[in-house]
Amino acid sequence: MVRTICILLLSLLLEGCTRASVQEPVTLTFLEEWSNKTFSEAREQELRQFTQETGIRVSLLPSPESARQKLVLWRELLGTGASGPDVYGVDVIWPGILAEYFVDLKPYFATEVSLQFPTIAAGYVVDNKLVAMAYRPDIGLLYYRTDLLRQYGYREPPRTWDELEIMASRIQAGERAKGKKQFWGFVWQGAADEGLTCDALEWQAAEGGGRIIEEDQTISVNNPEAIRAWQRAARWVGSISPPGVVGYREWDSLNVWVAGDAAFMRNWPSAYADSQAAESPIRNKFDIALLPGGKAGRVGTLGGWGLGISRFSAHPREALELVRYLIRRDVQVKRSRALSQPPTLPELYNLLEVLELNPRFDLLSQAFRTGIVLRPSNVTGKKYQEVSDAYIEAIHSVLTGERSAPEAAKALQNELVHITGFQTRRPSGIISGTARGGSESVH
Ligand code: GLC
Repeated sequence: MVRTICILLLSLLLEGCTRASVQEPVTLTFLEEWSNKTFSEAREQELRQFTQETGIRVSLLPSPESARQKLVLWRELLGTGASGPDVYGVDVIWPGILAEYFVDLKPYFATEVSLQFPTIAAGYVVDNKLVAMAYRPDIGLLYYRTDLLRQYGYREPPRTWDELEIMASRIQAGERAKGKKQFWGFVWQGAADEGLTCDALEWQAAEGGGRIIEEDQTISVNNPEAIRAWQRAARWVGSISPPGVVGYREWDSLNVWVAGDAAFMRNWPSAYADSQAAESPIRNKFDIALLPGGKAGRVGTLGGWGLGISRFSAHPREALELVRYLIRRDVQVKRSRALSQPPTLPELYNLLEVLELNPRFDLLSQAFRTGIVLRPSNVTGKKYQEVSDAYIEAIHSVLTGERSAPEAAKALQNELVHITGFQTRRPSGIISGTARGGSESVH
């Protein structure tokens, strides 16, 4: 009897051993934003650390650069119901579009969410479901060349878009006269893609031109302030900005800027890392500021990314571990040092370790509270991409001179009525309390 029990125990033990040794370690697939070499290397490094800590492997999938093409791919993959990718990067404007495909993360991250900037966390909640966990917020910023501003007698970066236009034009003329024929005053994102929605919203919101569709479900885009802001931008194309800017995405403007061929650039905080890299020709010759404003204040579009877990994933437990790791305090600190990606936790903005390499993060932490404009993704939900596409098309046609701004605004208004079924109105009182320092949120 004792012998039989011994044999049974031994065989169970052996079976356990063989099972453990045959069992492959879990490999998660992870699809996120497009990035360049600096970013991929830093991300691979983070993932190696995760594998060392947990034994879970992660395979990082490549993704398209264009924000619109990304959404097409995400939708296609999720629509098949396949078990991979397990973890997806989720742009802050997508939760309403993709909510049904992701696990509700609320039960797992209640404490973590309560520590984040409230506006940032709120962007990922749809019908009380936490579709993705915010892991890095973005905001539109102005990059400017400190050396050139000094040379041309400017003590401060421009506070209004009109000032920017004047400064950019003077610096450009001066640099060209010195023989820099490729030099431009201002680079930004003018390609017919989501980046243009972000840029154009900043121009019009700063002038009191509203946020396309307001929180109360009214379409406000056809108004004189928005129209004037678009007209001004159209004037930049070919004067202070290259004619090709109407084909620029974030990385195109960054390339011109890092080469030292522009006085100003509109971009996200993470453009800081490449600008300040050891080999960058403009290292220590630039700074960042809030975007210029207009009569209604200074605002940057809120961007950013969260992490969502596919509800078809075969490894939800491991996927949760990955998300938990990527939003961890120490991992965010390291990431802000390596890539200048702003953390989601306000407390990190006072940390010396973070500020040492990102001296302007104080500006960002204030801006995330009071200086942002939100794209109308919450109010339009599943229809956001159609709305944004229509807006992009209208603005792009004005920038390329195909249509006049009033014509484009009127046609856009009609199209938005058709897409959403909402009423139209003129924006009023959208930006409140500019007296509180001239940088206010537009919600
Ligand atoms: C950045 C932002 C994102 C935005 C995209 C547009 O990745 O974080 O929110 O949609 O740029 O190109």
